[in-house]
Amino acid sequence: MEKLLIRGGKTLTGEINCSGAKNAALPVIAASLLTDDDVVLQNLPHLQDITTMFELINSMGAEISLDENMFFKIKTSNIKSFEARYELVKTMRASILVLGSMTAKFGKAKIALPGGCAIGTRPVNYHLDALKKLGADISLTNGYIEAKAKRLKGADIKLGGITVTGTENIMMAATLAEGITTLTNVAKEPEVVDLANFLNGMGAKIYGAGTDSIRIEGVASLKGCQYEIPPDRIEAGTYLIAAALTNGSIKINKIGPDRLTTVIQKLEECGAEIKSSNNSIDLKMTNEIISPVNITTGPFPGFPTDMQAQFTVLNAIASGKSFVNEEVFENRFMHVQELNRMGADILTNGSAATINGVKHLQGAQVMATDLRASACLILAGLVAKGETKVDRIYHIDRGYERIEEKLSSLGADIQRIPN
Ligand code: EPU
Repeated sequence: MEKLLIRGGKTLTGEINCSGAKNAALPVIAASLLTDDDVVLQNLPHLQDITTMFELINSMGAEISLDENMFFKIKTSNIKSFEARYELVKTMRASILVLGSMTAKFGKAKIALPGGCAIGTRPVNYHLDALKKLGADISLTNGYIEAKAKRLKGADIKLGGITVTGTENIMMAATLAEGITTLTNVAKEPEVVDLANFLNGMGAKIYGAGTDSIRIEGVASLKGCQYEIPPDRIEAGTYLIAAALTNGSIKINKIGPDRLTTVIQKLEECGAEIKSSNNSIDLKMTNEIISPVNITTGPFPGFPTDMQAQFTVLNAIASGKSFVNEEVFENRFMHVQELNRMGADILTNGSAATINGVKHLQGAQVMATDLRASACLILAGLVAKGETKVDRIYHIDRGYERIEEKLSSLGADIQRIPN
């Protein structure tokens, strides 16, 4: 199994481009099932999760091709299967995103129920309850969710809890429902707004995405469109932290600061100087000493849970004590044990971590447990003394495009090795 070998201690400097956002691309691909016309997508990141989503819709009959501009064309007019098999769903929970679009467009969907995962139990009850309120008949049989509906009907729905993919699923379903849907207690993440923009480009009538309440006026059909996947704020945030950790100075192009306001604020508290334009973010560490910063994760505009593990590395080598509260997932501290093996001093208690900053981390063999935990271990390797080998890096390939190439271009000593 491939590993990443990192020799720590290099200062990162230079420029990179931000890739398209995985978590914006996945719902957009699922939404392409809502039309019989072709959909053309630009700036799709080359990631395992995107390949898995393509495999999923391909197994239903969608055809995917690359055009002369290297844009992806999705042709959905030949869908003949309405099932998302367990083999695919178990490798990517975001497969649940086809539930809303399939039910709305075809009146039926059979999707394997995603199980728990390394970061928590992650049920989908809010998705199912809301889909029922739109009139779908939902049953759970043999590990599969089966949804059936003649035509969904608009309704006033308060989601059972704030959920990103749940908000996206129900927004997709309601576009083709009869009448008006009002969704409250919704997620306000930028990727929810991105999906609404894509759907509106297809002819949907969605208002208020990114605010507390989303209004969707159902339409009879949607048309194809061309759409550019927006930049990945979590990827950008991860590289900003890499630069801050190594006392570096980097510029990230193709992303502005708006999607990263909270993360930028926390990096500034750590001692980084950040300047941005509409289409770039520059970070320079002005001081070798990193100030400890307390973090509490929360739904957008709160501090993103997808940046918690990476930020923990900054705190691990900061000049004092800090506290991290993980409020979104119940079990997202799996990286802590590995960081402690590298010399960090972190104590967890339920959803809270107390971090006593140490002077140095030491290289070690470590094991990634999920996508963001693997990013955290790579960051730790970049700043540790000696060699770090990160195992199970298939997690990183799910969500970071060419990470070792991008980091090498900034001066890191990192390579992919066979064993
Ligand atoms: N929840 C429920 N019931 C539901 C849905 C969610 O109890 O029906 C709970 C979850 O267990 C969790 C909380 O609500 O405790 C929030 O989960 P949410 O549904 O918002 O997460 P998600 O939609 O499954 C997306 C991202 C995650 C990101 C979270 C939170 C995608 C494809 N995934 O997941 O991204 O961590 O929102 O921001 O958009 C990642 O990229 O590494 C990743 C895990």
